Amino acid sequence: MSSAAAARPVIIDTDPGIDDALAVFLALASPELEVIGLTSVYGNVSIEATTHNALCLLELAGRGDIPVARGAAGPMASAYRGAIPHIHGDDGQGNANLAAPAAVPQAAAAHDWMYARAAAAPGQVTLMALGPLTNLALALQRYPDFPAVVREIVLMGGNALCPGNASPAAEANIFNDPEAADLVFAQDWPVTMIGLDITRKVVLRPADVDAIVSRDTAPARHLSTALGFYQSFFASTNRLDGLFAHDPTAVAYLLDESLFNLSRWPVCVETEGISRGKTWPYVGAGGDEAPQPWRQRPPVAVATEVDAAAVVRLIVERTC
Ligand code: RIB
Ligand code: CA
Repeated sequence: MSSAAAARPVIIDTDPGIDDALAVFLALASPELEVIGLTSVYGNVSIEATTHNALCLLELAGRGDIPVARGAAGPMASAYRGAIPHIHGDDGQGNANLAAPAAVPQAAAAHDWMYARAAAAPGQVTLMALGPLTNLALALQRYPDFPAVVREIVLMGGNALCPGNASPAAEANIFNDPEAADLVFAQDWPVTMIGLDITRKVVLRPADVDAIVSRDTAPARHLSTALGFYQSFFASTNRLDGLFAHDPTAVAYLLDESLFNLSRWPVCVETEGISRGKTWPYVGAGGDEAPQPWRQRPPVAVATEVDAAAVVRLIVERTC
């Protein structure tokens, strides 16, 4: 980034979550971005745990000054399916059991807080969504001009042309709240979807993890515990020697878009039946050519290819 370029203000909506932690540390370590706040959401673990973890991660990075606003405890129109402790630990951070943070959340709820920050600087604030999209959907329902005041949405979520991970059909963040996701994809605002099509190609190998956690910093010491737990999960189930860098890959997109190829497709989300949570792009000319319900949907920038090695290098070089 040239020294002249101003840092991009970003709000990270997150359900920390071990890969969320790596993503937050990456964003904080990148001069291209100004993290103006975290908004917590249920997902990998409960809203209580994700909010606690968001506050703790900022303090580990020496950025306890960055505000955290507490978000939704569950989906818009269904029951929270529950935590996934086998993947992220009972506490969402690999059972690191981070000490109580000094800071407390903002008084405002996440969806109110993110709208207020975006409306105060129309067209300048980017929303980086790393969990279920419930907070964004609640903001859309309460503030009709929300799409007009946000610069863009970059989200880790969905699976355009590949199987899911939370079910054969659906990726976890979308699976947690399909109705919210469908509302987000239906809006006329710039959305970039960094889905499993991409993030399953960005694998941190043990040597990459060692390079990150070997640094003498509090975030690195924390990640040594958290990433170790995350690696064990992937070793036991995906037979993967390493870990998928789901959320950090979405941050990497903001750092260097040239590492990604995008296709612009309207996207709808299945909300019924066994494929509930599947993101369905219409892979063709949009507009009047598309069948319903894709016909009136604005295009989403769906990431379809990535220079995975370059993203891994970026994550390793920047983090901690
Ligand atoms: O499918 C991966 C996504 O679900 C990541 O954001 C991970 O943290 C979980 O939230
Ligand atoms: Ca996440």
